[in-house]
Amino acid sequence: MSYNLLKGKKGIVFGALDEKSIAWRTALRCHEEGAQLVLTNAPVAMRMGEINKLAETTKAPVIPADVTNMDDLKKLFEEAMKHFGGGIDFILHSVAMGMNVRKGKHYTEIDYNWNQKTLDISSMSLHRVLRTAWDMDALNEHASVVGLTYIAAQRVFPDYNEMADAKALLEAVARNFGYHYGIRKKVRINTVSQSPVKTTAGSGVKGFDGFLTYAEKMSPLGNASADDCANYCVTLFSDLTKMVTMQNLFHDGGFSFTGVTQAVIDQMEK
Ligand code: NAI
Repeated sequence: MSYNLLKGKKGIVFGALDEKSIAWRTALRCHEEGAQLVLTNAPVAMRMGEINKLAETTKAPVIPADVTNMDDLKKLFEEAMKHFGGGIDFILHSVAMGMNVRKGKHYTEIDYNWNQKTLDISSMSLHRVLRTAWDMDALNEHASVVGLTYIAAQRVFPDYNEMADAKALLEAVARNFGYHYGIRKKVRINTVSQSPVKTTAGSGVKGFDGFLTYAEKMSPLGNASADDCANYCVTLFSDLTKMVTMQNLFHDGGFSFTGVTQAVIDQMEK
């Protein structure tokens, strides 16, 4: 069902890899709500070609950009503004990569070169995106930027590994850049702390299935799906939330504020 919440708005969506991606689901919902889109992903991810299906459905051009490359980002914003014939109203940052996680390194023995890459791709990339937009004055007044994060930034989830630190940094960048961009142009910047979802990035976490079931049992509403997340992002891109900024917003069916549930107690008593 469409409410036309994003009618006339123009946005860039980072990170749609395949149809399970949160960015993919969000792009579809934004399109349904009347937004015009530009899609982007790392050149290497685009070689899989999946994104072209999404581009067709959403009638959006695809512009490759590695989020750690400032030249790529500049070109992306230039081309997006040319395509839109003006400034940008919203951005979804849905990008992450845990190099040590991928290589199976335990948190206590991470490789620091890989870790730097992890932090650059997963966290400082939000700064790079915002800095590019800032330098080019690419965002319209009241534009909305959303990054996706996980509660491992606040609480220990051992197998989340270095990504826990990466998410804490991502949330800090959203808060700190949110201050400056708010003052300069009323741009709002928030992170959405999402329930676990079985995507390519999500499944990289060790013991992910157990993790998913635990979160489901620990959330009064159950886990929020990628489509639920897409709906929430739509509200954040809309004018209905124009005074919300610098927040880390939990979108997790109540998980973050639940100490224990009856379902978990029952499980422990078995
Ligand atoms: P995904 O694997 O579909 O998306 C991750 C995206 O990051 C991919 O499209 C990938 O190509 C892109 N990417 C990686 N390196 C890049 C680079 N150098 N330049 C540009 N793009 C690059 O997985 P998912 O789950 O949709 O992840 C999206 C976001 O949601 C991530 O920030 C993730 O940490 C976050 N998140 C995911 C949860 C989950 O359980 N799946 C839970 C909470 C947050």
